[in-house]
Amino acid sequence: TGMFTYDPGYTSTGSCSSAVTYIDGDAGILLHRGYAIEDLAMHCDFTEVAYLLLRGELPTAPKKTEFEKIITYHTMVHEQLHKFYDGFRRDAHPMAVMCGVVGALSAFYHDSIDITDPIQRMIAQHRLVAKMPTIAAWAYKYSQGQPFMYPRNNLTYAENFLHMMFATPCEEYKVSPVLARAMDRILILHADHEQNASTSTVRLAGSSGANPFACIAAGIASLWGPAHGGANEAVLKMLTEIGSPDRVDDFVKKAKDKNDPFRLMGFGHRVYKNYDPRAKIMAATCHEVLDELGIVDEPLLEIAMRLEKIALEDEYFIEKKLYPNVDFYSGIIFRAIGIPTSMFTCLFALARTVGWISQWKEMIEDPDQKIGRPRQLYNGATKRDFLPMDKR
Ligand code: CMC
Repeated sequence: TGMFTYDPGYTSTGSCSSAVTYIDGDAGILLHRGYAIEDLAMHCDFTEVAYLLLRGELPTAPKKTEFEKIITYHTMVHEQLHKFYDGFRRDAHPMAVMCGVVGALSAFYHDSIDITDPIQRMIAQHRLVAKMPTIAAWAYKYSQGQPFMYPRNNLTYAENFLHMMFATPCEEYKVSPVLARAMDRILILHADHEQNASTSTVRLAGSSGANPFACIAAGIASLWGPAHGGANEAVLKMLTEIGSPDRVDDFVKKAKDKNDPFRLMGFGHRVYKNYDPRAKIMAATCHEVLDELGIVDEPLLEIAMRLEKIALEDEYFIEKKLYPNVDFYSGIIFRAIGIPTSMFTCLFALARTVGWISQWKEMIEDPDQKIGRPRQLYNGATKRDFLPMDKR
């Protein structure tokens, strides 16, 4: 049966070669196709970053216009999908709805599920990037009992999402430029992060030749957990539970207690052991958004800042190299924009779809690609004699 390395959590296993994203966790560096996340977040919009991840280069102005045309062409979803939403309970978690609806896309778009055809693969990539905001916003509208809003193709990617979330047939949603910019920046900060759990899930699902819609649905499922994308929702719940800055110390103590499973949500990262560069940009954006909205004494921000300060000075967190991660401040921004907590992870999913599908594309085009098939250390019973029912 051959030898293999036992590596639970894959802490030292490289599963693929990739040219999409580079992370130096000790130095706090994140590059997409060689470009620093700081530059992309400050100077690009999300569609440019999507183009970069998918195609490998930043677009020229005409290329960007062409790409936007292609994406906006695909923003609507099949009309029959309305009925699919109707099958869910109104109080379903929007991530549950996303898992189902995205998986179901392969039942609607038969002309982009043949992964041996490069044209079909490209259409699937465009469809997924284009439709995800519509699918996510509709999950919210469904939970509210409001009519679905169709995409507006004259808006930017982020503006269009906010429009589908907050406009109604009776009233336009006036998108504030600062909020649209903040939303766009959050999408950029979540766009890709090399071989994290959900991306590895997409690759593993895709390695068997499964269609891209099914693979992205698998990624959404993996992202949902609180150790991964579900952390942004968990952070807001935690800050709300802490309730006031003077209770922060108690929660830090709880997080340090070996006998208490409680962890500070939004802290720690498998790869970043210095700081998460995305968290820095997120914190700055958070202050910008609250300033713009004239929110001066947001209690959750006060709690978050105190928590960050105390944790950063605490021996336990210093020794274990635990720093705020991308999810720590994003929830406060989402909340200020008016996005309900249950939608936070959906937003992560919609942004990460670009990374997932870029990595899926890379994998399919990789001549070294093989089906993903880890081994195991068997620790069950050795061979034993079968017992008939009356002897058990
Ligand atoms: N609060 C308190 N202690 C922690 C935390 C935390 N947030 N994170 C890790 N530790 C401790 C942990 O108890 C362990 O201690 P010991 O060595 O004494 O057993 C040590 O630090 C190492 O933790 P680990 O679980 O072995 O590390 P990991 O690389 O497997 O986990 C993580 C990384 C992100 C899952 C973890 O830090 C965590 O659960 N954080 C909270 C959830 C969170 O914020 N997730 C978002 C991650 S970033 C964006 C994303 O992927 O979505």
